[in-house]
Amino acid sequence: MSDEVRPAGSAGATASDRDRSWTVLELLRWTTDYFKRAGIESARLDAELLLAHALETERLRLYVDFEKPVLPAERDRYRALVRRRAQDRVPVSILLGEREFWSLAFKVSPDVLTPRPDTETLVEAALSKVKGPGKGDPSVVDSDRKWRVLDLGTGSGAIALSLASELPEVDITATDLSQAALQIAAENADRLPQGERVRFLHGDLFEPVANERFDLVVSNPPYVARKDAKSLPPELAHEPEMALFGGEDGLDVIRRLVAEAGRHLSPGGWLLIELAPDQAGTVEQWLAGAGFVDVERRFDLARRARVVAGRWPGA
Ligand SMILES: C[S@@+](CC[C@H](N)C(=O)[O-])C[C@H]1O[C@@H](n2cnc3c(N)ncnc32)[C@H](O)[C@@H]1O
Repeated sequence: MSDEVRPAGSAGATASDRDRSWTVLELLRWTTDYFKRAGIESARLDAELLLAHALETERLRLYVDFEKPVLPAERDRYRALVRRRAQDRVPVSILLGEREFWSLAFKVSPDVLTPRPDTETLVEAALSKVKGPGKGDPSVVDSDRKWRVLDLGTGSGAIALSLASELPEVDITATDLSQAALQIAAENADRLPQGERVRFLHGDLFEPVANERFDLVVSNPPYVARKDAKSLPPELAHEPEMALFGGEDGLDVIRRLVAEAGRHLSPGGWLLIELAPDQAGTVEQWLAGAGFVDVERRFDLARRARVVAGRWPGA
């Protein structure tokens, strides 16, 4: 397809572009090429997700309908999405208002971090602590009572609600400093059957649970270094600063988490923190220095250190 041919209504479309009819496949090919030239890496996938959204159908359905013409009203909806994706670099998740995480559908908006696949490493690590060695091992925590789990900085509620879906016998609390994020988390809780088992609280770090202790504290805190802000993908401008940046070196919130977590962990309880791979060594040292034992790291699918964990002694 020539560069000169544009879907009707797109910038620079000619009268003949507007008049001609476009099939699903033609639109996908055109948009993929357009996104690639705009520097969008997942060009074809993004085109498919946006077209499926505009057509109010499933992405895989497009493959069956490749030769189907797209109606002008559908094309208008699609064009508006394509423009925001390419020109304003709005992430697909925000354009769709939804993102899948741990096989659950989460509502997202510019008020929350879109849950990332890397964070499933943290969920897996947390489950291994509750389901694996630890649960039922009296040397770790008293297993006769319900485990108490805290998700600190819950954002969309992705971690807390995923854990709740896997752990029907566990008490889960989720906190965030952002009221707007908690509003989205509450909406996600309303949409999911396990949502009513999660308690959402507002406040800074451990402040909303000041006098409480947990068997497991998980957190995906803001950990991007402010000094790296200029080199970040433009899509991140559509996510809350409070969810991304952890001060000049990215470690401000993690530093506080490590220092304060001991006062909120049961003897034998675990602290699990998601971080950037190059922060793992530093945070392991901090954990050991703060008195944690069994300090370990977990790797994401790309084999990068993604989670650091430590156990509070004393059981
Ligand atoms: C990286 S996002 C993680 C969101 C979600 N847990 C996830 O994994 O998709 C960090 C979250 O921590 C919250 N946050 C930042 N500073 C905080 C603080 N001092 N106390 C509590 N929450 C904080 C942000 O509002 C944001 O929702």
